[in-house]
This record gives sequence, structure tokens and C-alpha cells, in this order.
Amino acid sequence: MMVNDSYEVSGLQQQAKTRQNIVEAITRNFADEDEGLKHALKAAKQAGLPEIQISPIQGKFLQLLAVACNAQKILEIGSLGGYSGIWLARALPAKGHFITLEINPTHAEVVRNAFKQAGVSDRTEVRVGNALDLLPQLLNEAPFDLIFIDADKPPYPQYLDWALRLSRPGSIIVADNTIRSGKGFEEPQDEGMAGIVAYNKRIASDPRLISLDLAMDDDYTDGFAISVVRQ
Ligand code: DHB
Ligand code: MG
Repeated sequence: MMVNDSYEVSGLQQQAKTRQNIVEAITRNFADEDEGLKHALKAAKQAGLPEIQISPIQGKFLQLLAVACNAQKILEIGSLGGYSGIWLARALPAKGHFITLEINPTHAEVVRNAFKQAGVSDRTEVRVGNALDLLPQLLNEAPFDLIFIDADKPPYPQYLDWALRLSRPGSIIVADNTIRSGKGFEEPQDEGMAGIVAYNKRIASDPRLISLDLAMDDDYTDGFAISVVRQ
């Protein structure tokens, strides 16, 4: 029994190592960070922001989606340190526009500086406030071609309502952290998970959307919900 158990452990360790190698190889080949992205990570850390940004693969995936829907206007709900914003802003054409909503004014300054360092200040805008207050003001700037939700989790279903109001047929709506090691599909134990579980249920059944959750973070335990607004 001892022998079988240790075989099992080393098998699992091998699988984990293989997955890690795959993530590293894909990152090296498709999602290398340049100085602008590296600076954003360092500055966010120095400012005391939590290190919970998306992975480089997820950043590249957001760019791919932005190009796929010919994005000219992108909206982000929740800026963190500007890391995902840099990936997204770089997918825009010269006249494109990226708006990110951030509740914390100190963090917003970190983000503006990260955008400057990454050379994307010309097409980016950081708006400070509670997203639920700022979103109604965006109606006259809609539709957005891509909307990325990565803010506080309890209002995720409300953010989805606004994303639908601010989008067009063919727009892509992405939400981060919808898997949570599978908890995103179980009976929720707190308000944050309640928001995420409700979000998953909504996108899975809303006839206006075609949706899929994809495990795609560094250890495949969390990832994006991707929805396309049907024509
Ligand atoms: C948390 C939030 C995030 O957006 C994330 O990507 C990871 C963790 C959090 O609030 O714990
Ligand atoms: Mg997140």
C-alpha cells in the first residue's frame, strides 16, 4: 500500500511538472513579457497591490480575442495594476480606445504610470470610482467590442447586465476567476462565490450569448468565462 501510494504521488508530481513545462513553453513561444509589462508588475508589487493579475498566456488570449472581434473600443472593469490593461491596449489599432474602471484612486495612479511606461497612454483612460456608478455613464460611449470583467466578485451578475447593455452583436465579454478550483459551479459559501456561481449560470443559459469557461491560469484551477454576444 505504501508503495502504491508513493507511485501515485510521484505520478501526480510528474503530471504537475508536465503542466508547468507546458505553461512555460507556451509563455516563452507566444506570450513573452516586454519591459513595459515587467515594469507594471514591479510597480504594482512596490505599491503593495496583491499579485493576482492574469497570467501572460491569459494576456495574450485577451489580445487574440480583441483582434478576433476587430476591437476599436475595449472596456475593463477592475484595473488592479494595469497589467491586463497593457495587454488589451496593445491589441488596439492607433485610433482605438481602452477604458478601465478602478475604485481605488491610489491604484489608479499606479495604473496610469504603468500605461505611460508601456507606451499606451495615448489610447487608454483610467476612470476612478465604483464601477456600478461609472457604468451608466458609459452608455453614450457604447458599444464596446470587448469587455473584460475582473473586479470584486459579488456584483459579477450586475457587471454582466451592464456588459450586455454596453455591447453589440459580436462583442466578446470575458470574466476572470469564474472557475475557482470548481467552486464556481457549486453551492456558494460566501458572497463572492455567490456572484461567480450566478454569473456562470447566467452565461450558460442566456440565449443572447454563446459561452464557455476555460481553465487557463498557471495551474489550470481557475480561468476565464468567455461569452460572445450572438448576432
Ligand atoms: C482574487 C481576485 C482576482 O481577480 C483574482 O484574479 C484572484 C484572486 C481575490 O479577490 O482573491
Ligand atoms: Mg482576477
